[in-house]
Amino acid sequence: MTLLSRSERAWWRDAVTYQIYIRSFADGNGDGIGDIEGIRSRLPYLKSLGVDAIWITPWYPSPQNDHGYDVANYMDIEPMYGTLEDAQRLIDETHQHGMKLIVDIVPNHCSDQHVWFQEAVNSPIGSAARDRFIFRDGKGENGELPPNNWQSVFGGPAWHRLNDADGNPEQWYLHLFAVEQPDFNWENPEVREHFEEILKFWLDRGVDGFRIDVAHALIKYPGLPDIPPQTHRTDTSKVDAEDFVTDANAEVTPPELRPTWDQEGVHEIYRAWRKILNSYPGDRMAVAEAWVSPASRIARYLRPDELANSFNFDFLTSRWEAKYLTHMINRAVDAMAEVGAPPSWVFNNHDVTRSVDRFDLGLQNRQSNTIERQGDPAKLDIARGTRRARAGALLMLALPGGAYIYQGEELAVPEVRDIPEDRLTDPIWKMSGYKDRGRDGCRVPIAWKSSVDGAFGFSTNSALAPTEAWLPQSPWWGSYSVESQAGIEGSTHSLYSEALAIRKGESGLGDGPMQWLDAGPDVIAFSRPGNFACYVNFGSPIEVPKGATVLLSSSALADNVIPTDTAVWLRLS
Ligand code: BGC
Repeated sequence: MTLLSRSERAWWRDAVTYQIYIRSFADGNGDGIGDIEGIRSRLPYLKSLGVDAIWITPWYPSPQNDHGYDVANYMDIEPMYGTLEDAQRLIDETHQHGMKLIVDIVPNHCSDQHVWFQEAVNSPIGSAARDRFIFRDGKGENGELPPNNWQSVFGGPAWHRLNDADGNPEQWYLHLFAVEQPDFNWENPEVREHFEEILKFWLDRGVDGFRIDVAHALIKYPGLPDIPPQTHRTDTSKVDAEDFVTDANAEVTPPELRPTWDQEGVHEIYRAWRKILNSYPGDRMAVAEAWVSPASRIARYLRPDELANSFNFDFLTSRWEAKYLTHMINRAVDAMAEVGAPPSWVFNNHDVTRSVDRFDLGLQNRQSNTIERQGDPAKLDIARGTRRARAGALLMLALPGGAYIYQGEELAVPEVRDIPEDRLTDPIWKMSGYKDRGRDGCRVPIAWKSSVDGAFGFSTNSALAPTEAWLPQSPWWGSYSVESQAGIEGSTHSLYSEALAIRKGESGLGDGPMQWLDAGPDVIAFSRPGNFACYVNFGSPIEVPKGATVLLSSSALADNVIPTDTAVWLRLS
């Protein structure tokens, strides 16, 4: 197979995409909440950082029970973020800056305020309006028990019981996430048609693609069977570290034992979506958020007639160990190659503890209480975590395929652990019975300036104090500001922008082949076309290979020695 050059192949095969969590990126109207105008004002920043595309988390009208992932109307803009005209201007200006823009689509569930759900609760049992969602009678003598034993990803039962107009309890509805997020019934053709219209609505406005929320959950196993207790996982990615190393040939859990995830029927939906994407000019794409494992299962979403792209979340569940990461990279690269798709690497997003903390503490994205999620703060060594996160960045950006960067990652911000309990907003906090602080710690509004005015420059309202931003910023937050890092030698911001600039100039990076190099068990080393090599040292210091020129390193090198937890990019002789 001849490999197309970078300018010939579809943009998303190489792209570095910057994830904007809209509430927390930049506040353009002074209310302490990020918005479209804020993003617009920061397009030059994104351009100069060197990213190829931006992904914006849901910006649709929403009661914000899950910060926009509870959508009340998929074809409009949340007033606190702006208007449809603002969105159009942002799409156009992003293109004028030479970047692509993708929007988040949330097809598994909507908000309980969506007009369809309101109609459903006000319509009789068995009505067509109810059939757009998953309503069932309860078990027990008076239907007082949930229809099955499924658990919400956020904690507690995945079913909520309605009361009728007279206040008498009646049917239950399914919500795999918050109570305010009823699951759609994707067996209903009206639901399919609605989403096809939504895709066209945004494609007509010029978006370059979609990030598909919980892409693996749309279809449920027929009959909605109980999940046997021993297999009761809310998420198929939660494998043990040891399984992870040995599961390349592991048997895939039978579909009836994972009735909410990764059912065969989802693929038909994405085949229809592919046809829509292909009917538009340009390389319109979709990236699946599919928490399925092993990688061979993810690859099924990327078959040529389905979605182009899927997040590879393995780094989010990986310990910082050469053996472990090598195995994971091999497995992902092989699985993607089978379907002709490039891998797309992810280190951070708005759902997981920041990589600085994760890589230091060996966290694997476990989520049932705060200590599992965020690790033990007494053991955290931020300096070491930062070194690892920086080394990891060079690893990720040298691997084949694309990469997703989450806002603040380019500043090496750590997880924020000191948000006062009464300011926590993630539904996980409440639904876990106040055991798990949830995801607010990775969603604190970005510090653009080191001084406190305008919530460290997050807001155009200079009188806004850091504690008045929608999630409070801690007093130390300004030390991670853009101002303190952009253009400053040795900063993480400079590391990312230099890496992205080199990546643009190296035609062998992005999609394409890699070759492992043997540098010992504690080193990940590989080359890419053009005599480019990446070495990541997890063990004791090693020498730069003879004759190689250092293009970039994640920590300072003394006497050509690569210290522990350091990555280098090299030109081999
Ligand atoms: C999103 C989360 C959201 C959930 C429910 C996810 O996977 O990334 O932020 O809470 O879907 O929509």
